[in-house]
Amino acid sequence: MNVLVTGGAGYIGSHTCVELIEAGHLPIVIDNLSNSSAKSLQRVQEITGKAVPFYEGDVRDEALLDKIFAEHAIDCAIHFAGLKAVGESVAKPLEYYENNLCATMTLCRVLAKHGVKRIIFSSSATVYSGDNEMPLRESSKTGNCTNPYGWTKYMGEQILRDIAKADPEWSVVNLRYFNPVGAHESGKIGEHPNGIPNNLMPFISQTAIGKRDHLNVFGNDYPTPDGTGVRDYIHVVDLAKGHVAAIDYLMRHTGEGVFNLGTGHGYSVLDMVHAFEEANGVRVPYEIAPRRPGDLPTCYADPSKSREVLGWEATHDQNDMCRDSWRWQSWNPNGYDE
Ligand code: NAD
Ligand code: WQD
Repeated sequence: MNVLVTGGAGYIGSHTCVELIEAGHLPIVIDNLSNSSAKSLQRVQEITGKAVPFYEGDVRDEALLDKIFAEHAIDCAIHFAGLKAVGESVAKPLEYYENNLCATMTLCRVLAKHGVKRIIFSSSATVYSGDNEMPLRESSKTGNCTNPYGWTKYMGEQILRDIAKADPEWSVVNLRYFNPVGAHESGKIGEHPNGIPNNLMPFISQTAIGKRDHLNVFGNDYPTPDGTGVRDYIHVVDLAKGHVAAIDYLMRHTGEGVFNLGTGHGYSVLDMVHAFEEANGVRVPYEIAPRRPGDLPTCYADPSKSREVLGWEATHDQNDMCRDSWRWQSWNPNGYDE
């Protein structure tokens, strides 16, 4: 299958390119490199031995998308391209709505124009309303997002759902990721955040390597076993394999499918710190800090629908996540920068 991968140079996109190639597909990447480096795709080639066709540019550029369709017989698209920093989305809402929603709409218009009505969308557990009971099922309540980034995911899903409702030829899969962490076991590709990391795992690795003085643990008075926030961390390679499973589903169904990609296990911030220290023999100094506004105490998936319908489930454990994050961080202290 020839798979158009938008945002394929990014963290999850590059890992998905590897798994697509391992499964016999050809990823064709478009990325404007606003939050990534083309070196990730060179590394994908080092891992797989296969070159990935790459178009540098914006998904909102319809002429560029047409050119890709003219040069490749695309079978379906995986749409990763988007801005993803929660705090930044609060400060720059228009940029987020404009980038994330216009890219999705342009992509769908071009896919339909070329008769390829198949798309997998990177959604997020953030679309679930904060007042649900755990674990979160695909049928749990959505909405009440706490930031513009979350709304772009909520609205992106809705746009695709409406398209699939209006035209029965469309096949849409909305994948709701929980907390992706870790890196490819080769140590060649991984997460390369610009500036100070927003997410826990890159902050832990950068603290362990000495780039950050200590980790701030945002709150230790939540109603959780140790008082710190609990999340469903999922190894990025498992997440990438979930996309390969979703392609099989996409080719056999029409309409909209929505699936959680999580493990079903919740770990607290301090669980992750201690597991990281143990897996890698390093120290992660931390201090308890105030709660971060907008954070939930607990968030984890019920992944049974993905297991039953997609035939997919996560196989990497917490130790794998910690070990592979550290291998990437310690072998590439500056990410893809020299
Ligand atoms: P990432 O920033 O590493 O990857 C996104 C890629 O999209 C980047 O390479 C960026 O340069 C590119 N991009 C952004 N806007 C673009 C545009 N208009 N045209 C072309 N390229 C563009 O992020 P990631 O962690 O790999 O996330 C991939 C997708 O998964 C995103 O849509 C994100 O919102 C979603 N997601 C991520 C997480 C997470 O925690 N990492 C969780 C849930 C959902
Ligand atoms: C995890 C836990 C923090 C950093 C975010 C987005 C979500 C999704 C995934 C894209 C929480 C605690 C964190 C730190 C800490 N992204 N923490 N110190 O908030 O679950 O989800 O990323 O869709 O939309 O909101 O992930 O990694 O930021 O935080 O104590 O320096 O770690 O409070 O309990 P989160 P996270």
